[in-house]
Amino acid sequence: MRAIVISRPGGPDVLSWEEVPDPRPGPGEVLVEVAASAVNRADLLQRKGFYDPPPGSSPYPGLECSGVVAEVGPGVEGYAPGDEVCALLSGGGYAERVVVPWQQLMPVPEGVSLTDAAALPEVACTVWSNVFMTARLRRGETLLVHGGASGIGTLAIQLAKAYGSRVVVTAGSAEKLARCRELGADDGVNYRTDDFAKAFGADVILDIIGGKYLKDNVRALNTGGRIVVIGLQGGTKGELDLGALLAKRGTIHATTLRSRPVDEKGVIVRGVVDNVWPLISAGAVRPVVDITVPLADAARAHEALEEGAHFGKILLVR
Ligand SMILES: NC(=O)c1ccc[n+]([C@@H]2O[C@H](COP(=O)([O-])OP(=O)(O)OC[C@H]3O[C@@H](n4cnc5c(N)ncnc54)[C@H](OP(=O)(O)O)[C@@H]3O)[C@@H](O)[C@H]2O)c1
Repeated sequence: MRAIVISRPGGPDVLSWEEVPDPRPGPGEVLVEVAASAVNRADLLQRKGFYDPPPGSSPYPGLECSGVVAEVGPGVEGYAPGDEVCALLSGGGYAERVVVPWQQLMPVPEGVSLTDAAALPEVACTVWSNVFMTARLRRGETLLVHGGASGIGTLAIQLAKAYGSRVVVTAGSAEKLARCRELGADDGVNYRTDDFAKAFGADVILDIIGGKYLKDNVRALNTGGRIVVIGLQGGTKGELDLGALLAKRGTIHATTLRSRPVDEKGVIVRGVVDNVWPLISAGAVRPVVDITVPLADAARAHEALEEGAHFGKILLVR
């Protein structure tokens, strides 16, 4: 098969479309013929040499895909060749074929094309596990989504609205804030010019910035609020005033999806299929796809993500 290979750590030009050995499914694994994959910020870090795949994972980038089951390994039940699926991966989505533990497979939600289904696994699993399983966002509470225009943000807005919460966002331009409102966000501020902690109080904060926002996230927290840090775009270190956190009886979580064991991913994936897929089939939540780029041209997709003009997901298609 062919896959996108990272020849050495560096810029988008280190990505090349090359002939590589075909993967074979082992016990409990499924071989998927990839229809589409999608770009995640973690892929940029992996390309730069800062985020190695977990042990045993594919060396090729790609944390999600959609496609058709080509072969099932011993002990796999519930999937058969020809099934249309999408999958949460720990790597290897930027390829013609990928092997996946069956627990990380999902059916393509009703009403979504096979290609667009590649935009869903990473964002749906990340938002479901962090906002709902970890932070336990409740109906009527306020969720602050940093980076409302990101792949993660566009799904978080829709899902939290569908569950009856108030959603406020940060974004880097008036145009992106307007698009977040079109998706259902109740309010938003431009993080380049405004103080979000002055503008909003939040019960749950989905944070992708980390160190740089630690103090202001605690400022923005309502009593009993929960911060979930899932990204470190603003650095790994910040000063935490425990007095301020204590006064609000607040909680800070920090999580990552990729390194979790298969069984834990399986629990998240089942939660997504049971709780998110029905909302997608009902039309209340949809994948937000910005541009679609040929898989062999993944370098161009990385450039687009780095430029930051996108809204939602950048897809890679065969
Ligand atoms: N821990 C996990 O398991 C996990 C899983 C998936 C993703 N993530 C993280 O989630 C984040 C989003 O991922 P993605 O692939 O959806 O990325 P993406 O589409 O490239 O989005 C990046 C976002 O960062 C926003 N941003 C940049 N500086 C900001 C600031 N100072 N304040 C608020 N927002 C700011 C951008 O806003 P504008 O475009 O409006 O400028 C953009 O929306 C990444 O940090 C990624 O690493 C974590």
